[in-house]
Amino acid sequence: MSLNRRQFLGASASATLLPSIAKSEPGFRLEAEPVIAQVLPPGDGVTHMFGFNGSSPGPEIRARQGDRVSVDFVNGLDRDSAIHWHGIHVDNDMDGVPGLTQPLVRPGETFHYSVNVAHAGTYWYHAHHRSWEQVAMGLYGPLIVEEQDPPTVDRDITVLLDDWRLEETGELHDSFGNAHDITHAGRMGNFARALFSSNHVRRGDRVRLRLINAATAREFPVTIGGLVGQVVAYDGMPLPEPAPFREILLAPAQRTDVIADVTGPVTFDLRLRQGSYELGTLSVEGTNPSPTHAPIMPLPSPGIPEPDGNRATRLTLVMQGGAMGGRHGGQDVWAFNDRSGLPERPWRQFDRGETARITLRNDTAFPHGIHLHGHHFREIGDDGVHGAYRDTTLVDPGSSRDILCVFHNPGRWLLHCHTLAHQAFGMKTWVEVK
Ligand code: C2O
Ligand code: CU
Repeated sequence: MSLNRRQFLGASASATLLPSIAKSEPGFRLEAEPVIAQVLPPGDGVTHMFGFNGSSPGPEIRARQGDRVSVDFVNGLDRDSAIHWHGIHVDNDMDGVPGLTQPLVRPGETFHYSVNVAHAGTYWYHAHHRSWEQVAMGLYGPLIVEEQDPPTVDRDITVLLDDWRLEETGELHDSFGNAHDITHAGRMGNFARALFSSNHVRRGDRVRLRLINAATAREFPVTIGGLVGQVVAYDGMPLPEPAPFREILLAPAQRTDVIADVTGPVTFDLRLRQGSYELGTLSVEGTNPSPTHAPIMPLPSPGIPEPDGNRATRLTLVMQGGAMGGRHGGQDVWAFNDRSGLPERPWRQFDRGETARITLRNDTAFPHGIHLHGHHFREIGDDGVHGAYRDTTLVDPGSSRDILCVFHNPGRWLLHCHTLAHQAFGMKTWVEVK
């Protein structure tokens, strides 16, 4: 499915703002319900989809590091659901995985989530039941955890990236669960854009941008024009030193935080095989009378224990299946280690605090962004050098990546591909931390 450029023309002036829930509210209600969204430019058709509290994406939840966020999730849909707090080291029974950590939330029911946000950073929440369908239908939103001592910026702007598969009328294409998507790269949209929590900046502003890829399948290689700055965090976790960038690549579910100084209208473009596609623009209104010239500093260290690779249990997880992927021993389209779907017993049990080095090997013809619940891990380079902390790591076809993780969080944790059609059709397993 290729992106439809014609539909997008004229859309850059449109500004859909992400709604928000104030961080001063100690507890709130998050109701999943049918919504009507203006995904296409104003004047074009509307989209009947699902959302939270009347909108899709759902409201941006802002909390302060160390808070316990209290959410009454009300299921106002005609179908079962549950909410997952992606990247947060939650208590296991709050992780939102039906059948593994909680029962399904039935239509009309309320489930109370109590989410301890120990680490500051950029996170998100999304439906975790039939997620390939429910996330594509709009059931997600940003979850921002502010530092105890946040860096000084003039603007802090969330940039949600997504694509949608739309009819000419604007309605969602009803091709959910289409066999080609499942066996290939997942459900790609034909229309993509960036949604912002605020839509303008001043020249000279220092901004923090929080990019989130909420798409069920599409990788976003993004270039940002009109600013000069550095990457300061991946998947919520600060880099020890800010890093320069030319292009930012976000696999499904990944996040990147940038701190930068505005030199002109801030443009977001998606690189395509041929040319690029305009995702959206933050317009410039006025000039900051006193721009900062201070260097961009690292965000405060998350203070999680550094894994020791020399004491790690060695494991290998092989991704298998899909179109052009050869045979495997699993019962479904996709598999890990010859096994499709959730085994009754965990793939591995770890003692609490145990460190494992896991080789993720991709024997398929497609990329997979592999997500571990309840933890972050370090990506390890071929040379053994410790890379960034991540909760989702992208492994290209025919390649492999080692990750190093301290399994510190007790409970039952999912490990799966975040191309959600791959997850639904076999590419998932779970581990248990005792
Ligand atoms: Cu973001 Cu198991 O998911
Ligand atoms: Cu996958």
